[in-house]
Amino acid sequence: MSERITVTPLGPYIGAEISGLDLTRPLSDNQFEQLYHAQLRHQVVFLRGQDITPQQQRDLARRFGDLHIHPVYPHVKEVEEIIVLDTHNDNPPDNDNWHTDVTFIDTPPAGAILAAKQLPEVGGDTLWTSGIAAWETLSAPLKALLGGLRAEHDFRKSFPEWKYRNTQEEHRRWLAAVEKNPPVLHPVVRTHPVTGRQALFVNNGFTTRIVDLAEKESEALLGFLLEHAVKPEFQVRWRWREGDLAIWDNRVTQHYANADYMPQRRIMHRATILGDRPFYRAG
Ligand code: SIN
Repeated sequence: MSERITVTPLGPYIGAEISGLDLTRPLSDNQFEQLYHAQLRHQVVFLRGQDITPQQQRDLARRFGDLHIHPVYPHVKEVEEIIVLDTHNDNPPDNDNWHTDVTFIDTPPAGAILAAKQLPEVGGDTLWTSGIAAWETLSAPLKALLGGLRAEHDFRKSFPEWKYRNTQEEHRRWLAAVEKNPPVLHPVVRTHPVTGRQALFVNNGFTTRIVDLAEKESEALLGFLLEHAVKPEFQVRWRWREGDLAIWDNRVTQHYANADYMPQRRIMHRATILGDRPFYRAG
């Protein structure tokens, strides 16, 4: 039987749909290689009809790398590597902003695998945008200025204290997370460690300022970059069905979970793959 998978691009810059894989069974090395390279090339790939268990999701994610344990989000009972994003009236969505996952650590995730478990009747789409497209469409003088600049990323920007004061235990966990995750610096443009491609690496979720510029300069330039990075031309939007899976390269993308479905419930499971320290190599 052929092991060739089918990769159908969803746009010129980002996104592809993959068929020809059944992720409830372990992938052969050959199948995994094809999936891995499709994800590198298209930055986010989508697979329909994959009714996988949390254990299967974790095992698939482990083939991409070691996994991250989130400091705040709850996880599946027996699988601590699988975060549960269960949003409803009593736990409103908090991912309806453009962000790159976990850039508040020195070595932000290389990628993530998101599985749709329970969906609202309509709505709850997720959008991704390409940092590569955002970078490539900047003018040469601006690129020259940005190369080598560093920006600060702060856990508290997306996880502010006021949201975590509901119980003493919740607040204690938040304080511990803040202590463990002081603000970090990353290059404003990063070089992909595998493909060598450059990508804009600031995001609205965690980036607070460009530390090599004066405050007002940083405000203006960061404001422009955050807006530029999410131009519709650089985006793909996925309309979920239960059993769908998205796998993305977190080093070169941002995403936005559309929060238009209240008071309905939406449950997603995410595995987060650890990455390495971002760097910039001119070229
Ligand atoms: C996330 O921000 O990682 C989750 C996105 C989603 O729930 O669609």
